[in-house]
Amino acid sequence: MSYSMVELIRTKRDGGELEPDALRWIIAEYTADAIPDYQMSSLLMAIIFRGMTQNELGPWTEAMLHSGDVLDLSDVDKPIIDKHSTGGVGDKISIPLVPIVAACGVAVPMMSGRGLGHTGGTLDKLESISGFSTTIEPSAIDTQLNEIGVVMVGTTETLVPADRRIYALRDATGTVPSIPLISSSIMSKKLAEDLDGLVLDVKVGSGAFMKTVDQATTLARMMVGIGDSHDTPVTALLTNMSQPLGRAVGNANEIAESVEVLRGGGPEDVRSLTISFATEMLVLAGNESVDSANARAVDAIESGAAFETMLELTARQGGDPHVIENIDRLPRATHEYVLTTSHSGFVSRCDAYDIGVAAVRLGAGRATKEDDIDLGVGFLVEAKIGDRVEVGDPLVRIAYNDESRLQAALDALDNAWEIADEPVTPNDLILGEIR
Ligand code: URA
Repeated sequence: MSYSMVELIRTKRDGGELEPDALRWIIAEYTADAIPDYQMSSLLMAIIFRGMTQNELGPWTEAMLHSGDVLDLSDVDKPIIDKHSTGGVGDKISIPLVPIVAACGVAVPMMSGRGLGHTGGTLDKLESISGFSTTIEPSAIDTQLNEIGVVMVGTTETLVPADRRIYALRDATGTVPSIPLISSSIMSKKLAEDLDGLVLDVKVGSGAFMKTVDQATTLARMMVGIGDSHDTPVTALLTNMSQPLGRAVGNANEIAESVEVLRGGGPEDVRSLTISFATEMLVLAGNESVDSANARAVDAIESGAAFETMLELTARQGGDPHVIENIDRLPRATHEYVLTTSHSGFVSRCDAYDIGVAAVRLGAGRATKEDDIDLGVGFLVEAKIGDRVEVGDPLVRIAYNDESRLQAALDALDNAWEIADEPVTPNDLILGEIR
């Protein structure tokens, strides 16, 4: 059956419901490059405003999931659990998390994304490790999982190619923040991984695509529901994204901060959220109490086992393990600018959205699908919510390569920080949980 894309766009634009066959046709044709980007962007924008019904979301997600091969990991002799984030600023949690969980005997076939909108992407960050390849032959994935417990890959021309294309298009067309588009993008990738369980990090706040707990709860319930309909247990934690996680925002500098966590240090919020997610993943893997899972996750860091797994992962995927052993070998921008405060008091805002937009302007993210990113640029946030600051103290250190990009980034940071006279208590990191 063939359809007219213009008519389907009009139907969605006017609030109509698209029939399952039409949705399958759109995904198949777009994946085969038979629908041009301009028509697909127009449909995506209509979905942003009109949403999708449950009747539409099911066939749309299924069509994305089956747009390529689905992994067969029946030869993997460990529980297979993954984690995915809905996207945040400074959100490098997956990078220290995966080696910890793998070191505890769980297989993690993580399929991640690139930077999306104002948020960073795990694949871009990993590629700042010299030589690291995020493309692996699907047939080699189970061997690597049996041997070291982890692979970190992206979608390819054979693995969920529909998401590969739609994701890149959404990034460059302002069509990211939509509950059905986010749920179908995440769940199509995750269900293609043949999982025994999935833990989701549903971000809430200015730097997230979901600005309120209510919106995040709706998104989490939708993804848990898609998991249920595929007999895949899903746990979602709603986590705070009103300010960046940790200090580093960028690509290479987020790898450096992740390595610090794997060495037993790093900022407290990154370390504690990483351990919370590791605990959830180990519990989902089976027969383990929260206390025991938590203790094993901490031990994987303290014993050095997780760090060793990160070295093995890097070497297996073509990366240079010396970069992990010595983070000074990561790419670095040539200049530094320090933004300081002109007020004394307590930081009451350190806005994740403004900092995310500034990072993209600096070159850490893409403005068009074709853009290369600058792996060495980024921010080291020096003042976070609740911190006491005096006039002249640094708010953020900006690593940059290009003066005009620095200026554009500084413009985005104009109102990113607010300083109050009274002490401020930061909000909790974990705001809720949906199972
Ligand atoms: N992560 C994804 O994989 N897709 C989205 O749409 C958002 C976050």
